[in-house]
Amino acid sequence: MELKAILSPIADDLRCVDDLIRQRLTSEVALINEMGNYIVNAGGKRMRPALLVLTARAFGCQTAEPHLLAAVIEFIHTSTLLHDDVVDESVLRRGRETANAVWGNSGAVLSGDFLYSRSFQMMVETGRMEVMQVLADATNAIAEGEVLQLLNIGDPDVEEARYLRVIELKTARLFQAAAELGAICADQPPAVRKQAAEFGHWLGMAFQMVDDLLDYTAPPEISGKNIGTDLAEGKPTLPLIHAMRHGTEAQSGMIREAIRNGQLERLAEVLKVVESTRAIHYTAALAASHADKAHAAVTGIPDSPYKETMLALTRFAIERDR
Ligand code: IPE
Ligand code: IPE
Ligand code: MG
Ligand code: MG
Repeated sequence: MELKAILSPIADDLRCVDDLIRQRLTSEVALINEMGNYIVNAGGKRMRPALLVLTARAFGCQTAEPHLLAAVIEFIHTSTLLHDDVVDESVLRRGRETANAVWGNSGAVLSGDFLYSRSFQMMVETGRMEVMQVLADATNAIAEGEVLQLLNIGDPDVEEARYLRVIELKTARLFQAAAELGAICADQPPAVRKQAAEFGHWLGMAFQMVDDLLDYTAPPEISGKNIGTDLAEGKPTLPLIHAMRHGTEAQSGMIREAIRNGQLERLAEVLKVVESTRAIHYTAALAASHADKAHAAVTGIPDSPYKETMLALTRFAIERDR
């Protein structure tokens, strides 16, 4: 199912979130407006805002408070993308040239900083210390994850556990924060907040695993990102880790070499080994098992269209092609 159809129960909420995103993007500096609009108007799935709103509604929140926090989460996400594309030297995002490709690294880094700090101005408006605690911890974890990943670049000895730690920090923590903030908006006690956070964690893990397999399989016209970016960078993600474990000595050696040197020109060769070792299947299966854990985390919450949509969102996360 298309994401838009899945999210129809919160379509009005998401329109409010988008309005808020546009309103709060503005600056007296024209270039910031230009860059901000450029990346925001390119779309994006708005997965994290959707998760926040859904969790809030599923736990009984009836106010507009989730809208502001959903915009905050999307600003944080967008700022990490702006910075990530500089670090990854990516040139295509959301079907458009990346901000770094258009305005250079300085522009992308600084506009990322603007969005990031704007998100802090907005979260303070809630006046809730627990909100700031969750977001301060999540943003710190993302930075740690990106640095840990930097240390893994060009290293073919990175094992699955280390890969899992990176994706937990750089990606799952923001999903976790989104879900926990939803429960906070609904004034839920700590045990329920924890349950929501767990749901977000498992969903985020599955989401990044699929992102990493799409890096080897998804045509740019559909995904809006280039294929092989991770290989070009020498990033040891799960498909390669599995392929190295199960390939012949020669095959593993070839992939090790490609990781060490970030050899995009070896993509076709690497893909052959990825195929013969069923590395995409392995990655997809691990993502699916994480999505199952997300399901399990919310079995206890009362049935509602919002809970159904949370479950549909986990299915989307593992079945998606973009
Ligand atoms: C991209 O996230 C970065 C990852 C954590 C994989 P999304 O795939 O949610 O990006 P947009 O917002 O839809 O463009
Ligand atoms: C996710 O990793 C980046 C962040 C969490 C900031 P990727 O580097 O795989 O994301 P894409 O593929 O560029 O969107
Ligand atoms: Mg990237
Ligand atoms: Mg990626």
